[in-house]
Amino acid sequence: MPIMNWDKSLDIGVKAMNDEHHGLLDIMNQIYDAQAAGKQGAVINTLVTKLGEACTEHFAHEEAYMQRVGYPGFSSHKALHASLLSRYGAFATQIRAVGGVASDEFFQFLKFWLSSHIKGIDTKYAAHATGAAR
Ligand SMILES: [Fe+2]
Ligand SMILES: [Fe+2]
Repeated sequence: MPIMNWDKSLDIGVKAMNDEHHGLLDIMNQIYDAQAAGKQGAVINTLVTKLGEACTEHFAHEEAYMQRVGYPGFSSHKALHASLLSRYGAFATQIRAVGGVASDEFFQFLKFWLSSHIKGIDTKYAAHATGAAR
């Protein structure tokens, strides 16, 4: 049972970025499902590392894209990415420290970030890039 399903409200209108968001959601659901199935330790730590790497990669792609399309909000968007990665790193450290057990707070953070950052923040560079009025 996934913690969050993809739905149309997450579609920002830029296919490459939608695909990456979809990928992040998938890994988040894998962590949630693994934990719900009673897994802990290396399985969880590996998935948490994988999601951190996928986020880092996605943010770099997104930042390159924003620069390419001349998005004026680039700097503040980039700063938000950095802050998310630092919070993510703190969660990952905590999860490792307790032997590969993800907390409810971690899942709440992910769920909130995925929906609010994609819907509230990523949509802005997408609107700029596609010239859509929002
Ligand atoms: Fe994004
Ligand atoms: Fe973003």
